[in-house]
Amino acid sequence: MASTEGKLQQQTKEKRSSKTELKNKPARTSRKKAPGTRPQKTLDTRAERMRKRSEKGSTSENKKTEQKQIPNQRKQTKRQPMDRSDFVETDRIKELVSRTTPYLQAGYPLHLTGPTGVGKTALALHLASKFDRPVMLLHGNHEMNNEDLIGSIAGFTSEKVIDNFVRQVYKKQEEVKEKWHPGRLVEAIQKGYTLIYDEFSRSSPETNNLFLSVLEEGVLPLYGTKQKQSFLKVHKDFRVIFTSNPEEYAGVFDTQDALIDRMITIEMNNETQTEREILRNRCNILAKEADIILKITGKVRKACEKENKNGPSLRASLMIATICKKSEIPISTDNQQFTTVCKDILASHVVKCLDGKTIKDAEEWVEEIS
Ligand SMILES: Nc1ncnc2c1ncn2[C@@H]1O[C@H](COP(=O)(O)OP(=O)(O)OP(=O)(O)O)[C@@H](O)[C@H]1O
Ligand SMILES: [Mg+2]
Repeated sequence: MASTEGKLQQQTKEKRSSKTELKNKPARTSRKKAPGTRPQKTLDTRAERMRKRSEKGSTSENKKTEQKQIPNQRKQTKRQPMDRSDFVETDRIKELVSRTTPYLQAGYPLHLTGPTGVGKTALALHLASKFDRPVMLLHGNHEMNNEDLIGSIAGFTSEKVIDNFVRQVYKKQEEVKEKWHPGRLVEAIQKGYTLIYDEFSRSSPETNNLFLSVLEEGVLPLYGTKQKQSFLKVHKDFRVIFTSNPEEYAGVFDTQDALIDRMITIEMNNETQTEREILRNRCNILAKEADIILKITGKVRKACEKENKNGPSLRASLMIATICKKSEIPISTDNQQFTTVCKDILASHVVKCLDGKTIKDAEEWVEEIS
């Protein structure tokens, strides 16, 4: 018994001593590792932590601004109507641009006219891209009518109400409405787009009459649409660039004097210097190579002009240059492959212009002049 009591006393003594040991133990700080071995995190001072936090904040701010910028960038690319990277601004074009931009800025419609392939559409697109407005391209054709431009009834919408809330009462109401689908001109006019009406004289004068009031009174009449309003007001930023071929071209209507009177007409013609610059820069060829191509197409063009016909345009020269460049065909009259390309591209023009020439004669003729 005495021994067990002694044991108990001994155990309580040990417990007490261990408690006092714990009490006397140094604070937790004493368990801290030596500064060199401690992780960097615990060394941060309050100031340092604040600095890090502010840095973190600034990076997240940057992220926010980056995110904010994305839609703007998208907006800019969206506004670009078409890729104009291959457009060459020759001296002549620069002169035309600086001459005609003020007319468009002042709100007057511009009309670029001239033979095929002189660069009317290319210049119209270039001019349109100068204004920070969406561009709408409209191609004239004899089948275009007022409905295409101002809109038409595109089906019906019907609404049916059946009221049987009170069992003894049955009420049915049905309404059918015409659904109007606005035409392309409506959108351009209401939103202030830059409209390029390409080859406008290929549409009938009756269709183009619509532009008389648009250009003069600044209103688009909505006749035939059964709309409550009889006209739409033209947006202040709405601009039009017309292009056309001369009236002697097939499929071209005579333009009414009243329409011509409302626009500023600029005539464009083939110019060797401009063509040379475009060929060189667009197809990345040497000046002497451009001259070889232009000499051949020039001879065919002259022969056609003698017969009062339109010969090959800049398009034909661009075709020859592009094919030769892409297929690595030397642009030289001594090269058979080059002569074959010229024959294939130009012979059809010779047949069309020079009476009595078959395609074989034409090919021989092109080979002779090459
Ligand atoms: N300044 C230029 N820079 C680069 N390419 C051009 C330039 N001008 C015209 N072209 C090119 O020349 C070709 C003919 O030009 P475009 O289609 O504009 O002629 P157009 O006068 O409108 O002819 P059409 O009366 O047949 O419609 C096109 O391939 C066009 O890309
Ligand atoms: Mg064109």
